[in-house]
Amino acid sequence: MPSLSNQEPSSSPSADRPVRVALLGFGTVGSGTYRMVKDNQEEIARKTGLAMEIVKIGIKDETKKRSLPSSLFTTDLDELVVSDEIDVVVELIGGEEPAAGLVEKALLAKKHVVTANKELIAKHGSRLITLAKDSGLDLHFEAAVGGGIPVVQPLKHQLAGNDVIKMMGILNGTTNYILTQMATHGADFADALAEAQQKGYAEADPTNDVDGIDTMYKTAILAAITFGKQVPLEQIHREGIRKVSYADIHAAQMLGYVIKLLGIVEETKEGVIMVRVHPALIPQTHQLASVNDVYNAIWLKGDFVGDLMFSGRGAGADPTASAVVGDLIDVARNIKMQGSGSAIPYGQDMPTSPIEELESRYYLRLTVEDTAGTLGQIATAFGRREVGLAAMEMRTKVGGLGEIVFLTHVCRELDFVQAIGEVGRLGCIVSVNNWLRVEG
Ligand code: NDP
Ligand code: HSE
Repeated sequence: MPSLSNQEPSSSPSADRPVRVALLGFGTVGSGTYRMVKDNQEEIARKTGLAMEIVKIGIKDETKKRSLPSSLFTTDLDELVVSDEIDVVVELIGGEEPAAGLVEKALLAKKHVVTANKELIAKHGSRLITLAKDSGLDLHFEAAVGGGIPVVQPLKHQLAGNDVIKMMGILNGTTNYILTQMATHGADFADALAEAQQKGYAEADPTNDVDGIDTMYKTAILAAITFGKQVPLEQIHREGIRKVSYADIHAAQMLGYVIKLLGIVEETKEGVIMVRVHPALIPQTHQLASVNDVYNAIWLKGDFVGDLMFSGRGAGADPTASAVVGDLIDVARNIKMQGSGSAIPYGQDMPTSPIEELESRYYLRLTVEDTAGTLGQIATAFGRREVGLAAMEMRTKVGGLGEIVFLTHVCRELDFVQAIGEVGRLGCIVSVNNWLRVEG
């Protein structure tokens, strides 16, 4: 590989030579990061005592038109991550491979690593963080959760003394944008997704956003930082937003609620952690309810800190670059002070509680025959499973049909699901349209 910068290689960055950074990826986040390092170079140098230079950028497609000289780009990422002429690798490719292999290779070659890749950390965090820690290197991933919101570092440091009782996050900008557009403008799902893609919020494969996979990775990372162990992803209950219709959003509004896709981590009464991702109703008065569009938020309750919420832009080039560059500044400071910031407990295989054990309130929307006795039959079926009904809205439809929306009291998920099965078999029920959990 040709020389990467004008400076002679030296053992470590100093007043005479900058921290030399290699970017892997020059898409939405990569180009934002490049711009921020360049535009704010004086600010960065003043705050770290070291200059910072992006000396090479790894990409995949060399035929793409780029806004920078071609000499800055390479498609040989395997060689780039071990080059003597770089100090830090910033992985902004996304996905599992080749990102995981490249990050591992970089750490083995004694490079500090910054990444925005939630899939990488959710699946390989324990192994890679251990590798970094054992080598005295930094591995930072603030941008992997909540885009521009500083939440990973506060959980690792300032909040680490708390027993976190519950955490709920709106962690995906794309789905929050879609749900907001549906709720406020009655927008069509597909149109709102296309807009989120055009704004650079969506993943390369937007099913990751829509089906809650991206939120699952981020929730797993939050749980792992908070409780010190990686959560096996197959133990996380996951639902996306495809099942949420305008009829649900409207019914929730009538009852004083909004619908959000949430990543939830909580300690059960038995002291086991439950991690789940699904759309849920939250009261319009809850702090999370007013977090709209691309904004993300993480609400938590700690035993000493009490209720706390972080919010900000959860996706897009500039906010995400802000988090990546914040991590780069941490790396530069650690290089200067000869320290390391990776030493957090991040073991393997956290035991978790299954969703059937959840105790929650529920929302249910049914189409029924609008005749005498219908309500009584439904209430009796729920009563048999000890599911208490708390609120109800009924609207008459054409053709002798009605739509009923119920909210239940707190009950066990297993009992609720069995009760719905019984209700669905009643002669007066035309269809069980949807049910969702109620939080807050
Ligand atoms: P993009 O799809 O916009 O960019 C990906 C970049 O990686 C492109 O430059 C692409 O190269 C390069 N790339 C992809 N595959 C390879 C490969 N096999 N070898 C070399 N280079 C490759 O992604 P984003 O910038 O949106 O996302 C990057 C990361 O940041 C992901 O982990 C994402 O989850 C995360 N993230 C994204 C946010 C956002 O708002 N977009 C917010 C927070 C995190 P080429 O240019 O040649 O195609
Ligand atoms: N696709 C992600 C989102 C990017 O929409 O939130 C930020 O992680």
